[in-house]
Amino acid sequence: MTTIDTDPDTGLDPLEFSVTRNLAAKSTTDRDAILANPGFGQSFTDHMVDICWSVRGGWHRPRVSPYGPISLDPAAAVLHYGQEIFEGIKAYRHADGSVHTFRPDQNGRRLQRSARRLALPELPVPYFLQSLRELIAVDGAWVPSGDDQSLYLRPFMFAKEAFLGVRPAHKVAYYLIASPAGAYFKGGVQPVSIWLSEDYSRAGKGGTGAAKTGGNYAASLLPQSEAYENECDQVVFLDQDRNVEELGGMNVVFVYKDGTIVTPQSDSILEGITRDSLLQLARDRGHHVEGRNVSLDEWRQGVASGDIVEVFACGTAAVVTPIGVLKGRDFIDEQPSGTLALELREELTNIQYGRAEDKHGWLYRLDA
Ligand code: PLP
Ligand code: COI
Repeated sequence: MTTIDTDPDTGLDPLEFSVTRNLAAKSTTDRDAILANPGFGQSFTDHMVDICWSVRGGWHRPRVSPYGPISLDPAAAVLHYGQEIFEGIKAYRHADGSVHTFRPDQNGRRLQRSARRLALPELPVPYFLQSLRELIAVDGAWVPSGDDQSLYLRPFMFAKEAFLGVRPAHKVAYYLIASPAGAYFKGGVQPVSIWLSEDYSRAGKGGTGAAKTGGNYAASLLPQSEAYENECDQVVFLDQDRNVEELGGMNVVFVYKDGTIVTPQSDSILEGITRDSLLQLARDRGHHVEGRNVSLDEWRQGVASGDIVEVFACGTAAVVTPIGVLKGRDFIDEQPSGTLALELREELTNIQYGRAEDKHGWLYRLDA
């Protein structure tokens, strides 16, 4: 077990994880073969973490165990009513071999906000951080060291109570799994094409758009298929007033010719940690940053008039990816190409991989 002190902010003592080693863990040769070309979300490490929660017992039975199938009662509420949330965060290997993650307190807090919206229990942030460290303690060798590679960590929580009545579950499970990752898009950092979803929305006012919950992603799958049918990589959603929201799994950022950076902000959009960090780096460079509504008309007219000089998407999995084309049912708008997105990407990844000074104190060491 990793030794962690009582948390100074919450007074919580660390959990005592039981650790069961995977006797069928991948050999070094097999693991290295996977790490040489990991793709995204295809292979998983040898272990997983889980913590149970019940109304009576609170958070209990923290475990590290061999990665494998979860046994669930067919009546488990998550299978029927979708009471589920998740997070996405990466572990990066630095040149000296150490393993760090990026702003995990923010993911821990966002998991709590998602939990509140989905009527799930809030995992204390110190337990969240400890879960990441416990997994790295056994699976640290799975953090790849190649360019732009990382270990993608996927924390998630779901209603496991076997009960078909519609109410918040009394029994819940928190899990953490991990998957070595290379580029999210097959083409690497090439500009992506975006399909405008006109018939389907991702979220509504007062809905679950700001929560990281499976249902939002389920709702995005049909429009995402429409995007593929129209030869686009991703789909962008509008709100009921035709303001731009976000892509299926990334936030959108617009760069104006006077250097102003604008990103859609509303309670139906996921508050991206990558976006927040990039905007901070842009502010550090003297850019003025605005979070506000951006209508589809503002986007299209801004590009046509030259007021908008760059558009990019960002998120943990995809990092920063320029948007090259916006395609709708009856138009194709080529997007202007600039250099800021890739400069900010470089600056961000230099911090994440320990190649540049971490001025904002964003890194969190996982293997010590
Ligand atoms: N929006 C959606 C719908 C996402 O799934 C993600 C990815 O997590 C983001 C935005 C970007 O969030 P973050 O930068 O915290 O990964
Ligand atoms: C992430 O970037 O972490 C996400 O959850 C997005 C998902 C589409 C992979």
